Amino acid sequence: MTEQTTMRAVVATEAGPAGVLKPTQAPKPAPDMTEILVRVHAAAINPADWKTRASGSWAGRRGAEDPAGRGVILGWDVSGVVEAVGRGVTLFAPGDEVAGMPLFPHFAGGYSEYAVAPARHFVRKPAGLSHVEAAALPLVSLTAYQAFTDYAKVRPGQRVLIHAAAGGVGHVAVQIAKALGAHVIGTASAAKHDFVRGLGADEVIDYRGVDFAEVVSDVDVVLDAIGGDYFDRSLRVMNPGGTLVALCYDVDGEMLARAAERRVTAGFMLVEPDHAGLLAIRALVEEGRLRPVIDTVLPLAEAAKAHELGEAGRTSGKIVLRVIED
Ligand SMILES: NC(=O)c1ccc[n+]([C@@H]2O[C@H](COP(=O)([O-])OP(=O)(O)OC[C@H]3O[C@@H](n4cnc5c(N)ncnc54)[C@H](OP(=O)(O)O)[C@@H]3O)[C@@H](O)[C@H]2O)c1
Repeated sequence: MTEQTTMRAVVATEAGPAGVLKPTQAPKPAPDMTEILVRVHAAAINPADWKTRASGSWAGRRGAEDPAGRGVILGWDVSGVVEAVGRGVTLFAPGDEVAGMPLFPHFAGGYSEYAVAPARHFVRKPAGLSHVEAAALPLVSLTAYQAFTDYAKVRPGQRVLIHAAAGGVGHVAVQIAKALGAHVIGTASAAKHDFVRGLGADEVIDYRGVDFAEVVSDVDVVLDAIGGDYFDRSLRVMNPGGTLVALCYDVDGEMLARAAERRVTAGFMLVEPDHAGLLAIRALVEEGRLRPVIDTVLPLAEAAKAHELGEAGRTSGKIVLRVIED
């Protein structure tokens, strides 16, 4: 049998609307020392994918070119099967099922049949999850986990306000905050309240019907994936000593000063590859305290349609590309 040298992939050929994502053939990568070659079964979509595609902000970032030099292969959330290991890898062997968020914010090439990345950017796929489900978890769960444990240091009994609680980040953030023992308040449109309560939220606020800042108080931690005036409105409901984690905007000096007036710590956090975090997330799944919710599954070749759907901003849970059947 001749060895496969190319693979199916979707490449963003230039900056622009979703239509710049083109299915193509690309050279199959090979693992270097400490890396694994993963046969990708599923790859999840994140706002970082469409923001990068739309802005073309890949120049100068590592791993940016697809191996044929025509653009960039997006996709950070990967679940698949180890096909080969590089020199020195002890954690995995060919045939192991793995999931992770390799290399973020440098490029991992998840929208393809094969991805290569450091072994410790992955963990074994959580027991009981399909590849589609396992691909849905890493980026959003690491975001919430790092925000709540490393940054805000959420303690049992604290009141945590999660904006966009029905979204990709929000729906796992609700579950992770509950697992940490918090009282969880989420914002979502009314039609999604049963969904958010079903994830474990103690209170859900219809952000379209009321100003959340008028009906919430005594909040210790805010996870803000919205921005704009949500920063100042969130500060108004926070307790001294609290932490506001900004996920989609920088917190400048004037904003920091307004936070300091209320004795609140505030800052932008960007998720990082994190082996220990992935192990903790897998444990939560296997203990029955965290589950991904899949909004839509599309085949790899329909990545452009997946981006259009995601960019509409109404997703409940995650959009996932199926690369091969489980
Ligand atoms: N810094 C980081 O490390 C990091 C990591 C992950 C994500 N992010 C950023 O966080 C943001 C959210 O990401 P995501 O994956 O959760 O996005 P997403 O899945 O696309 O979010 C969609 C959800 O947002 C909700 N929503 C929209 N406007 C809202 C509002 N004003 N109040 C409450 N809910 C609202 C929608 O619910 P309704 O239909 O009810 O409006 C929908 O359920 C993006 O900007 C992303 O880039 C940052």
